[in-house]
Amino acid sequence: MPWLEWFSLFVRWFHVIAGVAWIGASFYFIWLDNNLKTPPDWKKQKGIKGDLWAVHGGGFYEVAKYEYGPEQMPEPLHWFKWEAYTTWISGILLLTLVYYFGASAYLIDPAVMDMSPATAVALGLGFIFGGLAIYEIACRSPLANSPVVFGLFFLVLLSLASWLATHWFSGRGAYIHVGALIGTIMAGNVFFKIMPSQRLMVDAVANKKPIDPSWGLGAKLRSVHNNYLTLPLLFIMISNHYPMTYQHPQNWLVLILIGVISAWIRHFFNLKHTGKTKPSILISGAVAMLLLSVWVSWPKQPQGALVNNSSSTSEVKVNQDDVHNLIKKHCVGCHSATPTDDTFKVAPLGLVLDSWEQIEQRAAPIYLRTAQTKDMPFLNKTNMTEEERQLIAKWYFENLNN
Ligand code: HEC
Repeated sequence: MPWLEWFSLFVRWFHVIAGVAWIGASFYFIWLDNNLKTPPDWKKQKGIKGDLWAVHGGGFYEVAKYEYGPEQMPEPLHWFKWEAYTTWISGILLLTLVYYFGASAYLIDPAVMDMSPATAVALGLGFIFGGLAIYEIACRSPLANSPVVFGLFFLVLLSLASWLATHWFSGRGAYIHVGALIGTIMAGNVFFKIMPSQRLMVDAVANKKPIDPSWGLGAKLRSVHNNYLTLPLLFIMISNHYPMTYQHPQNWLVLILIGVISAWIRHFFNLKHTGKTKPSILISGAVAMLLLSVWVSWPKQPQGALVNNSSSTSEVKVNQDDVHNLIKKHCVGCHSATPTDDTFKVAPLGLVLDSWEQIEQRAAPIYLRTAQTKDMPFLNKTNMTEEERQLIAKWYFENLNN
């Protein structure tokens, strides 16, 4: 339905814009906080505990952070909450449009777990809000007294979530659900704790009452979580373009590792803002990412003689007609100038495989998606067998060596 596609485009676009505004503001304030310097005495006497100077866009800026609050409540006072809320609302809308309306095309993979679209949607929502509930309860428990213990608990929780999601949903559906859970926890942190404690602070300042330090503490823990979750979340938002990640047999582990490595990279920047530059973090992060990519994408040679059942040697050349027939059987339902598939009415990503020339020309991506990442045929809708995949691989390697 074309109008649905347009709607999806606008929602996705809006979601990215809102996300840029949210994460941009969040990065800016973290940078700001970490760069504040002790101000001159005349500022201290006004109650300012840190200040900084910046130059941007053709002007100088002077920023000051108060120990307690200003004498008079300023008007207007900027809050920065709608960036978070609109990102979350548009994200849930996008999730619904793509993965819930399109549950049978995108969320359910019968090879992982066969279920009805209604079950999948219920499971998806239960996953997101169940995870949020566990996190919120933990934040109100004694766990929250130790940031380190809580951090470990949180890592276990998200790892468990990755494992569960990849055992329920299609690879990309699983990744996006872990992303939705993280995004919901982050927006929840703003809604359930950061905003309420800011309201208490503003009320206290307006009524000239003391500020209870515990308001800030709980909010601080959650904002640290949000800070470290930004890079993993951004990876998940773009992950659906990279099937080698979500389609890997241990896709849950790939997700956890990329999440941990990217949080580690975030740590580098947090330290750097405070004047501690530790290149070892960047280097170890890059090495870890490299090792991960080698592990995930180490080329697997085809398993040999699966070509001609009559022959047991791999010397037999793959028959061109056999390959062409496989593509006709498994791919052109979607990848054709005139697709016959019930969901995809135009060739996905413009990839058309009607003629042998077109097939030869795209041999590399065809091999990659059928035999390496194995995410084609889409959700294995046509039940392509392992033998058929190996045939494509063998054909590809033979032609590669010519
Ligand atoms: C049910 C429909 C369907 C079938 C059948 C199907 N595909 Fe796809 N294909 C898609 C969709 C949808 C995408 C886009 C996925 C995405 O967004 O990453 C895609 C993307 C691709 C791409 C990536 C193209 C690019 O430019 O990045 C390749 C390569 C591909 N398919 C190959 C195949 C091959 C080979 C087969 C048969 C073995 C096949 N597909 C069968 C739906 C299908």
